[in-house]
Amino acid sequence: MASTTTQFLLACSIISLLACSSANAQLSVNFYAGTCPTLANIVRNVMRQAVTTEPRMGASILRLFFHDCFVQGCDGSILLDDTASFTGEQNALPNRNSARGFQVIDAIKTRVEAACNNTVSCADILALAARDGVVLLGGLSWQVPLGRRDSRTASLSGANSDLPSPFADLPTLISMFAAKGLTAREMTVLSGGHAIGFSQCSLFRNRIYNETNIDPAFATTRKANCPASGGDTRLGPFDNTPNRFDNSYYQNLVARRGLLHSDQVLFNGGSQDATVRTYSNSAAIFLRDFAAAMVKMGNISPLTGTNGEIRRSCGIIN
Ligand code: HEM
Ligand SMILES: *[C@@H]1O[C@H](CO)[C@@H](O)[C@H](O)[C@H]1NC(C)=O
Ligand SMILES: *[C@@H]1O[C@H](CO)[C@@H](O)[C@H](O)[C@H]1NC(C)=O
Repeated sequence: MASTTTQFLLACSIISLLACSSANAQLSVNFYAGTCPTLANIVRNVMRQAVTTEPRMGASILRLFFHDCFVQGCDGSILLDDTASFTGEQNALPNRNSARGFQVIDAIKTRVEAACNNTVSCADILALAARDGVVLLGGLSWQVPLGRRDSRTASLSGANSDLPSPFADLPTLISMFAAKGLTAREMTVLSGGHAIGFSQCSLFRNRIYNETNIDPAFATTRKANCPASGGDTRLGPFDNTPNRFDNSYYQNLVARRGLLHSDQVLFNGGSQDATVRTYSNSAAIFLRDFAAAMVKMGNISPLTGTNGEIRRSCGIIN
């Protein structure tokens, strides 16, 4: 153990003093360069196929990554299926009948295993797939640090407590992201994940029927596909371009056209108004800050080194 650490530190000091400032293993962009050089191509090809078939899949996979990272860290815990003897996160309130895209991750994993058996974690596949989904829908690319390992546990209670509610107010959102080491500005830019994708009617009904900080024409439009009662699972787009990763989410917020209560609180006279305005005025600044914040979110408590495992199948521990 001690000699492993010594070797690691020695290797670190030779390779890069900056990248290895502590004995804790760090994620690195080139982690699989030697062991699975085709990884990035495999993930991109399967994601391209999936997003071409259904553009929303880019959004669904991005959300899966967020929900993975906020519960026990980015460790693939959300991918674990419930069984008779295992309770995972997929039936937590924020995930049940909502989190989707698991088959795409499974399809990627199958192809990755065929190319590089027992090498690449499901947590890393999810991190790459989330990036590719954003890029395929028009977002700016970023380099994804890799080397996460997969958990042998999941946390239903953590998923229920640590994932924000669409009914949350601004101080709650800020403190829930702060609990994961993310600033209020990073919370605001990561909420820009809602540049793509859809929400179910039951989660924005109260907003469009009862709230007053909403553009009336927007409320009327959304009501057409979200009745005051019934139709709970009908979808509404987060912004006017749900298949395009652009800054119109923020432009919509400024126009009081946020879909969820938790979207509009970012621009409602509070501390994030100026940041929302900045992003509404500059797609370039939004896309740059989003990419940086995704790297930071992807760094939440990863399992590294000999912790965790490389799952053979993403839905089940080895
Ligand atoms: C700030 C707190 C957040 C809250 C309260 C929140 C809440 C929600 C809710 C309620 C939905 C709709 C789920 C459904 O109808 O089944 C949703 C969808 C989505 N969320 Fe968030 N979210 C937050 C932050 C984020 C972050 C940080 C990301 C990614 C960086 C993200 C990405 C997405 C995406 C892409 C969708 C659409 C998924 C799809 O269409 O399948 N969200 N979110
Ligand atoms: C992958 O590795 C596992 C365990 O080492 C082995 O059982 C399995 O047959 C291998 N699969 C392929 C496709 O090589
Ligand atoms: C509007 O608010 C009232 C009072 O809180 C509530 O009873 C009602 O269900 C809400 N309506 C909708 C459509 O959410």
